[in-house]
Amino acid sequence: MEQLKTKPWSVSGKYVLITGATSGIGLAAAKELAVRGADLGIVARSQVKGNETVEQIQKLTGGQTKVDVFLADLTDQLSIRSAASEILTRCPRIDVLVNNAGAMFVKRILTRDGIEKTWAVNHLAPFLLTTLLLDRLKMSGQARIITTSSHGHKMAKTGIVFDDLTAEKRYSFPQVLLGGANFRYGETKLANILFTTELARLLEGTGVVANCFDPGLVTTNFNQDNGLLARMTMAVMKRFSRPVEKGAETLVWLADSNDISGESGKYYMDMKAAIPSAAALSGEIAQKLWEVSEFQTQHLKLG
Ligand SMILES: NC(=O)c1ccc[n+]([C@@H]2O[C@H](COP(=O)([O-])OP(=O)(O)OC[C@H]3O[C@@H](n4cnc5c(N)ncnc54)[C@H](OP(=O)(O)O)[C@@H]3O)[C@@H](O)[C@H]2O)c1
Repeated sequence: MEQLKTKPWSVSGKYVLITGATSGIGLAAAKELAVRGADLGIVARSQVKGNETVEQIQKLTGGQTKVDVFLADLTDQLSIRSAASEILTRCPRIDVLVNNAGAMFVKRILTRDGIEKTWAVNHLAPFLLTTLLLDRLKMSGQARIITTSSHGHKMAKTGIVFDDLTAEKRYSFPQVLLGGANFRYGETKLANILFTTELARLLEGTGVVANCFDPGLVTTNFNQDNGLLARMTMAVMKRFSRPVEKGAETLVWLADSNDISGESGKYYMDMKAAIPSAAALSGEIAQKLWEVSEFQTQHLKLG
């Protein structure tokens, strides 16, 4: 009997849900995915910016792309839960989930959930959104989950500091003067990799894969809300940065390429598997982080 051939994977005709698509790497990726034929769901914190993004995409594809906007402030767990509920009502399938939104904060701010803000946006938001949407991703068959990490994870040399999850020490004197906010950012980007490792393990055998990537140093709006010094630093770094299209290249490839079908739990850079820091390689720590994240989001365990 002739063997049944499965159709090669491509993002054309697939539904891609993406956070942080109103600017920078996410916007460039959303545009390219739309050009390649994907329908999009954009998770944005501002209706105005969401609408502007839809307009830009529709202009690019001559109105051929279905683009939904879902509102969520990713610092706020109630807002994430409400958006997830709306997504589950409006989206019968999610083929690709991209956790891309991210930020850095030079000052220590606690969210109304009592979570330090960098940790809330960069780690707990992807954790909560993904786990709330996981059954829908599984129902969609061979779904893909992609999380934007960073080479900056290497700054977290001591790994996840589980006894300082609200980053009091990181942001206190003298650590804050020695780059505490940068280390905190690095810790959240390390958490993105460990989250991917454990998610991939939990998803084994389901057909859903989870990977993360480093976009490189990219010219975006990143770190523009942290005062003059941060803006000046970013202006200098711009000289060494890549354009957004290049920064989005690996994300688009992870969403669209058939070559990596079945690959899961990996960290990529420039469309190649890369080796993250030693702190990112422990399955035991990845498991511990998952349990802590469940506790911090008061979310039920995956069944
Ligand atoms: N740029 C780099 O060199 C670089 C390097 C490595 C990794 N990364 C990672 O790349 C990802 C994208 O960053 P980017 O460089 O493209 O920066 P960006 O231009 O500032 O874009 C960040 C995106 O995240 C969204 N966002 C931030 N806080 C949010 C919140 N509370 N709720 C909802 N959405 C929120 C922003 O929405 P608004 O448009 O409303 O602000 C924007 O769409 C981040 O995860 C970052 O850590 C960047």
